[in-house]
Amino acid sequence: MNKTVALDTAAPYIKAPLIYKGKVRELYDLGEHYLIVVTDRISAFDYVLKPAVPDKGNALNMLSRFWFEQTASIQPNHVVHADIEKLAGIVTEPELLKNRFLVTRKAQRIDIECVVRGYITGGGWRQYQQTGMINGIPLPAGIRKNERFAEPLFTPAAKNDVGHDEDIPFERMKELIGAELAEDLRAKSLKLYQFAHDYCEKRGIILADTKFEFGLIDGQVILIDELFTPDSSRFWAKENYALDTEIDSMDKEPVRTYLASSGWDKNSEPDPLPASVVEATSQRYNDIFQRLAK
Ligand SMILES: Nc1ncnc2c1ncn2[C@@H]1O[C@H](COP(=O)(O)OP(=O)(O)O)[C@@H](O)[C@H]1O
Ligand SMILES: [Mg+2]
Repeated sequence: MNKTVALDTAAPYIKAPLIYKGKVRELYDLGEHYLIVVTDRISAFDYVLKPAVPDKGNALNMLSRFWFEQTASIQPNHVVHADIEKLAGIVTEPELLKNRFLVTRKAQRIDIECVVRGYITGGGWRQYQQTGMINGIPLPAGIRKNERFAEPLFTPAAKNDVGHDEDIPFERMKELIGAELAEDLRAKSLKLYQFAHDYCEKRGIILADTKFEFGLIDGQVILIDELFTPDSSRFWAKENYALDTEIDSMDKEPVRTYLASSGWDKNSEPDPLPASVVEATSQRYNDIFQRLAK
């Protein structure tokens, strides 16, 4: 594959109906299954930036694929296969698409983002500063930014089709989907987080927090969407870990740094990213894949 060409959309290469186009991923309907394609698009602050980042989609997809395999014995997931040969007649550019997709079962999505936080940072840190709590969970005073929690916290968000997901207390999650299912998803989420946290630690990476989505198929709880990718998780290189600072994220840091310096107001179409930023970001996504899954 030509490494300098980024995939902005897979639509011209797929003979199946495109039923959902997210900021990064595309969902095609294969009848019994979905075909989920990860493009090279990149987003920040709810904007899709220009241009796309070469090979970012491969790295994201191969990470998800890796983690679904690693966790299959502890939690059933939606993956059916990732075999491009089985898509002959549907995918017209197999070389381009072969590492960028998963064929999955169709689940009835549970509209909760199951967030687990092992460290206090990002949105959790903001909540704590404002209220002394995270998703209604009271925390002791004096916690410092990026500190590790004694026990990981489960901090769900209600998925909202319009606008942003809403942080909710666990009690509210119980009202929304039933106590038994809520307890089950919390236990599953904490177990998955622990598994990946321990794995990453051995590779010199801290999994600070992550998000899962679950669905139901024939009454069974199935892990769906993506798993432990930099788009759904916050990874820190151990050597960068420090309290009270903003720790480099392993993926979009070059983009964030550039956007901060460019004076963009986050409320209008941003200028295209410079080639050097695109190149550095592509490298970052590849590095994180190599460090975790090789
Ligand atoms: N197996 C599945 N069954 C049903 N829905 C799924 C499955 N896997 C992923 N999804 C849904 O597909 C969508 C993928 O969109 P995504 O790329 O995350 O875009 P965005 O988050 O920008 O809307 C999400 O709404 C996710 O919940
Ligand atoms: Mg999503």
